[in-house]
Amino acid sequence: MRASEIRALFAVASRPEVVSLAGGMPNINSLPLEYLAELSARIMRENGPKALQYGSGQGEIFMREQIVEVMRYDGIHAHPDDVVITTGSQQALDLVTEIFINPGDVVVAEAPSYVGALGVFRAYQADVVHVPLDDDGLIPEALDATLTRLEAEGRRAKFLYTVPNYHNPAGVTLSAERRPRIVEICQRHHVLILEDNPYGLLGFDSDPLPALKSYDADQTIYLGSFSKMFGPGYRVGWAAAPHAVREKLVLASEAAILSPTMWGQMVMTAYLREYDWYTQVKEFRGEYRARGNAMMSALAEFLPETRWTVPTGGFYTWVTLPEGIDAKAMLPRAVTNLVAYVSGTAFYYDGQGADHMRLSFCYPTPENIREGVRRLSHVVHAEMELVEMFGTGHHEHLKAGIEAPTPDQV
Ligand SMILES: Cc1ncc(COP(=O)(O)O)c(C=O)c1O
Repeated sequence: MRASEIRALFAVASRPEVVSLAGGMPNINSLPLEYLAELSARIMRENGPKALQYGSGQGEIFMREQIVEVMRYDGIHAHPDDVVITTGSQQALDLVTEIFINPGDVVVAEAPSYVGALGVFRAYQADVVHVPLDDDGLIPEALDATLTRLEAEGRRAKFLYTVPNYHNPAGVTLSAERRPRIVEICQRHHVLILEDNPYGLLGFDSDPLPALKSYDADQTIYLGSFSKMFGPGYRVGWAAAPHAVREKLVLASEAAILSPTMWGQMVMTAYLREYDWYTQVKEFRGEYRARGNAMMSALAEFLPETRWTVPTGGFYTWVTLPEGIDAKAMLPRAVTNLVAYVSGTAFYYDGQGADHMRLSFCYPTPENIREGVRRLSHVVHAEMELVEMFGTGHHEHLKAGIEAPTPDQV
């Protein structure tokens, strides 16, 4: 195990003078807090002893019924029995990995991949083999070639880990045309799909494309979460899995936590039943669209030397830096200039990615996003000059004279 690059940054990001384009905290200010306060009080008054009690290891039937309705938006027709409630989808990632992975087993994952999933794979000593993605998401030909090569080497992948919608960190979405092809390739190679979909409902202008699970429910373990379409506070997420896997997930979850939050499930269920939650999701979409647009225009205005992905939803864009600039080495100088991002290296298993950075637009206001990118542009332009003068090895050269500040010094 090792400290995530993002965790170290949280301390910095919380300082008011820093514009953080680093964290992935959802912007939940528009949630109906008065309504939630009344709802919570009512549940506690009318059902307090139940709300504060242990519950079923699989999660409560009333919550699982609501989740089945939510998954219909992804084209998934599941049964409440298929669903296991978890402590955020992060716990589901952990449970699936615990069940399938022995040290040295292969997980195939997009390059780049969500840092929190890579952390779990690392904790279970998986061997992660990356497959590239492009503006249309995971590349089917590359996946097919990788699975074929692994087979030839006598190494079978246990599962494919993929985030098809509004990818973290790449910002891209798997195209409609590629979806059935990815499923077909995994069927042919007998490789399970771990489909992680926390952002699916947060398309700026559109409803989600059909989930991979909608093409083949038995081939796919689907992970969902209320963290982004509501808020992460109750820590309610879920896995929808084929029968045999589901049984194991429940056993593993009971061993880890006994039962998921009863209180959180009761409040989330009541919210989904009583409140016009989809209108609230549309409100979030509008806010993220405005922030995403602010990010796109700021990049065009201040950092035209870089390339970036154009997200159609979610929280992130993935920026490719000019030749010779190392995002990880540049980060302390960015923080000195009061702007933070996450170096691309966090999103690869093998230390690649220094030519990339993830910029998130979910939390700061559009004005702050513009200001953050403006500050970042000064840092990038200064780096470009250094590369011009000293070549790509200039970071070593600089380290001799300048000690980079640690996050808590800034
Ligand atoms: C791709 C992805 N998967 C899973 C998670 C974990 O979310 P949670 O545990 O809050 O459901 C996140 C959180 O940022 C994420 O971006």
